Amino acid sequence: MKSGCYSGSRAESWAWRRLCCWALLLLGLCCWEASGVATPDQVKPIITMEQLLWVSGSVIGEVNTFRIPLIAATPRGTLLAFSEARKYSASDLGAKFIALRRSQDKGATWSPTSFIVDDRSLTDGLNLGAVVVDSEKDIVFLIYTLCAHYNLCSVASTMIIRSRDDGVTWSIPRNLSEEVGTTVFAPGPGYGIQKRHEPKKGRLIVCGHGMKDRDGVLCLLSDDHGWTWRYGRQPLHGIPYGGAKRYSDFNPDECQVGVILNAGQFAPYELPDGSVVINARNQNFYHCSCRIVVHSYDACDTLPLENVTFDETLVDPAVAAGALVKSGLVFFTNPAHEKERVNMTLRWSFTNGSSWWKEALQIWGGASGYSSMTALDGTEPDDAHSLFVIYEKGQVETTESISVAKISINGKL
Ligand SMILES: *[C@@H]1O[C@H](CO)[C@@H](O)[C@H](O)[C@H]1NC(C)=O
Ligand SMILES: *[C@@H]1O[C@H](CO)[C@@H](O)[C@H](O)[C@H]1NC(C)=O
Ligand SMILES: *[C@@H]1O[C@H](CO)[C@@H](O)[C@H](O)[C@H]1NC(C)=O
Ligand SMILES: *[C@@H]1O[C@H](CO)[C@@H](O)[C@H](O)[C@H]1NC(C)=O
Repeated sequence: MKSGCYSGSRAESWAWRRLCCWALLLLGLCCWEASGVATPDQVKPIITMEQLLWVSGSVIGEVNTFRIPLIAATPRGTLLAFSEARKYSASDLGAKFIALRRSQDKGATWSPTSFIVDDRSLTDGLNLGAVVVDSEKDIVFLIYTLCAHYNLCSVASTMIIRSRDDGVTWSIPRNLSEEVGTTVFAPGPGYGIQKRHEPKKGRLIVCGHGMKDRDGVLCLLSDDHGWTWRYGRQPLHGIPYGGAKRYSDFNPDECQVGVILNAGQFAPYELPDGSVVINARNQNFYHCSCRIVVHSYDACDTLPLENVTFDETLVDPAVAAGALVKSGLVFFTNPAHEKERVNMTLRWSFTNGSSWWKEALQIWGGASGYSSMTALDGTEPDDAHSLFVIYEKGQVETTESISVAKISINGKL
């Protein structure tokens, strides 16, 4: 369902903007603002600020371990950083809080930690999760799972909370499983998107992965600003569809719900043509030690096998990575290593993610795990040229702390 996006007047305005852009370039002026797309000589990312938001080891609220960082920017310009505060151990299981810190000065200072959800003493407590911002209605949603591993519990629940005041206060949790069912859905971890272009402008999309009873990638969709939710019609199962197979490739005939394709933990992002890209963890190194990429042309109603590719440049040790479209560029963060969670790296693409610029920015050479990105939408130069990377960082273990780095895309302070 590819829409004819550059027909008629939009094509003309696009042509005019390009013309204008080139004219400005010839005059030696910056055409970034005119076209919304940066050129290679304008993109020289550097870290301009970095600070640890959470440190594990029972030093903050007696929390054993902080993991699974998420970050979002609200329409009013507030940055919200979330993490799982694992009360008693580093395990994915066990009781947790959801921790939140807010920044109202573009990441310079952050509020003290508040615990916005407490699962008390569950044996298979909450897991993050995805944050999704409805910019049209100025609402922030956070979706998480309970009992994702069936560890001494038998029913999984998909839960959602909502804030209408930039993350200061939150609704009581609503149980989405009452309408979408109790099959495990592990959102993100990362952010969900609100479609800015047709098709389905305004739709909220939160993608995630299932566990053994529904393996693969699927998305939760809302077309009424989060009042009702449903899953997309066609999830993603086996890969590559109809393509030449290699040793260790997934064979759907043999392994219907196996763990070979346990792709998950990724971020969806929208390209200028309205297509949605899902960049997924390749859990069992299917085809490569690199990322699975899925394009959807119908706002994630279907994730067709024909639209699955592998990005061999994005070498990956099977981890949750960050992806973001900003200033017409696609950015990607992960620990760029085939096996180990080290070498947190920022990459950027001038070609809608179909290729990556030859240089990359190493954010942290040491232990580094999950990451997520956001950017402020404002018109000030600082907003137009900055992005924020939140990631698991350590000297030895990735679970030691959660850090946020502010990146200047054009290399200016
Ligand atoms: C959520 O709803 C489902 C379906 O009704 C139910 O089985 C489950 O126990 C509920 N979870 C919680 C935490 O209330
Ligand atoms: C995606 O799949 C559709 C068919 O479902 C096809 O028409 C389209 O060309 C594919 N796009 C890409 C980029 O592979
Ligand atoms: C870190 O990642 C960069 C970019 O992929 C790569 O060139 C470099 O070799 C990596 N370093 C290590 C230690 O893996
Ligand atoms: C990226 O996508 C947009 C929208 O489809 C298109 O106008 C642009 O030419 C693409 N850029 C590249 C380098 O493919």
